[in-house]
Order: sequence, then C-alpha cells, then structure tokens
Amino acid sequence: MTAREALARATARLEVRGVPDAGHDAAVLLGQVLGRPRLELPLYYSWRLSPAESAAYEALVERRAGREPLQYILGSQGFMDFEVLVDGRALIPRPETELLAEKAIALGRAMSEERRAAGLRVADVGTGSGCLAIAIARALTEARVWATDASELALALARQNAERLGVAGRVEFVRGDLLEPLLGGGVAVDLLVSNPPYIPSGELAGLQEEVRDHEPRLALDGGLDGLDAYRALASGAGPVLARDGRVALELGYGQAAAVQALFEAAGFTAVEVSPDLAGLSRIMTARLAGPGTNGDRP
Ligand SMILES: C[S@@+](CC[C@H](N)C(=O)[O-])C[C@H]1O[C@@H](n2cnc3c(N)ncnc32)[C@H](O)[C@@H]1O
Repeated sequence: MTAREALARATARLEVRGVPDAGHDAAVLLGQVLGRPRLELPLYYSWRLSPAESAAYEALVERRAGREPLQYILGSQGFMDFEVLVDGRALIPRPETELLAEKAIALGRAMSEERRAAGLRVADVGTGSGCLAIAIARALTEARVWATDASELALALARQNAERLGVAGRVEFVRGDLLEPLLGGGVAVDLLVSNPPYIPSGELAGLQEEVRDHEPRLALDGGLDGLDAYRALASGAGPVLARDGRVALELGYGQAAAVQALFEAAGFTAVEVSPDLAGLSRIMTARLAGPGTNGDRP
C-alpha cells in the first residue's frame, strides 16, 4: 500500500470514530512512522509502506481511533519553549496554562533584588507532568521549586521531565495532599502556583472522550462545584507563604468571582483576574501581606 492510500484509509477510520481533525491526526501519525514532519508527507505519497511500517501505522491509528489523545500517542507536548513527555500518568499541559507560567515568572521577576539574591522559593501544587515547576525553574534560575502531587505516577513523570530538562537539582517533587507536603518542612515560599483540578464532578461525564476516558480523573475532578481545591488553597496557603507572598492560579470556566471571594475572605489582597486568549477569566493572582505562621523565610 502507498503512503497516500494508507493515509486515506486511516483518515476514514478516524472519521468513523468521530475523531476531530481526523485528516490532520492521521497525517501526524504517518509522519511519526516514517520519521517525517507532517507537512513533508506529500513528497512521500507514492512511497510503498513496508509490512513493518504498515503494522506500526495501524497500531497508532487504532490507538487514536480509541480516542486516546494524540499527545499521549506521540509521547510529548510542547509547553512554553520546551517539550514535556506526556502519557496517561498526567494531564496534557494546555495552552492556557502557559499564561499561568508566564504570570508566575513575571511575579518572580518583580520580586525584590534581596529576595531574588537569597533564592526565590516557589511551590507548584498539583504539578502533573511538572510543566509549571519546570518552566519556572528554567526561567528563574535562582529559584528552588517544591512541586507536589497526590499521584505518585504523575510525580514519576514530572521527575523524568525535570531530569531531561536539566532542572532536577532545583525542583523537589513531593507526594501528598495539596499543601500538606509543604507544611511542617520549615519552608515558606515566596510564590505559590497551582493549576488544580477544577471541573465540577457532575460535568465529567460530558467531557470529550479523549479527556474523560484517558486523562487522569484526579487531574480533573474539582468536587461538587469544582472549587474544592481552591477552598483548601485559600484557607491553607497562609502557613506556607513567606511575608508578602504571592499566589497565581489557573481558574476554570465561570469560577473567577467565587475563587476571588474565597481568597479575599482568607485575607488576600490585590486579587486580580486576567483573561486567556479567548477572553475568559483564567488566571488569578493575589498577595498575602502578613507573615504566614511559618514566619519569615528560613
Ligand atoms: C489540572 S492537573 C494540573 C497538572 C499540571 N500542573 C498542569 O498544569 O498541566 C491537577 C493536578 O493536581 C493533582 N491533584 C489532584 N488532587 C490533588 C490533591 N488533593 N493533592 C495534590 N495533588 C492533587 C492531580 O494529580 C494533577 O496532577
């Protein structure tokens, strides 16, 4: 079979299974098998696939037909200016989370010379693939990052990513419930970043199959109203933040007012929400002026 015929067959197979952008995904997977970028494929349309190439292509197409996300099949996803390895152990980093990374990096850069010289301390709560912790460690080279997750599987992937990207020496991955791994360790962080699970439990069943059936439920389920993690972060962040500490959070659709109110009620000031590229309120930043119960920075 020629590459052109294989591509047409795979596209039809993916279309039958309701895969969005079937032609694109079929071409990307063929490019993967042939070791060529998708846009170069027309040059190889008359190439006769070997039996091994046909079998490899069919296996990848079947995975996509089962609505496994393309990124899990390819094994990586671009984030900011680097690639993270991704698989079913962690959420695929989303473009809107790059805005959170940019915001967190800007907050870190705006901190006093004194703080930066002493070495910024940053927490990434619910690190997943490690994308945020790694982006921050790469951009703020004086920072140490503590990255937490309840999932040991996600942490193993995040560690692998940090090692590959050369920041493992400055990112510590710790397992536990939200802020719990940071309490009692004597660490007061200057900046707390989180993209927590925020989808209301009742909406999980209606998600796109790729997300619902393949991404970890722990990464998605935000409880009855989607706000469980924000409640815990608002009420629990004080003790882990240094004096004049900042938080930067990603928000789910329609959650800005409720999350803002939670943080204001917990004593945060300068609570600001900024939109994503679609104009949706997506990132919230806030400041906690007083010292946390951990006191000053160690
Ligand atoms: C929405 S994902 C974000 C992953 C990654 N930070 C990103 O932005 O792509 C939320 C992450 O929080 C973790 N998580 C969920 N509940 C948690 C909890 N109670 N304590 C710690 N981590 C939790 C999940 O395992 C998941 O990795």
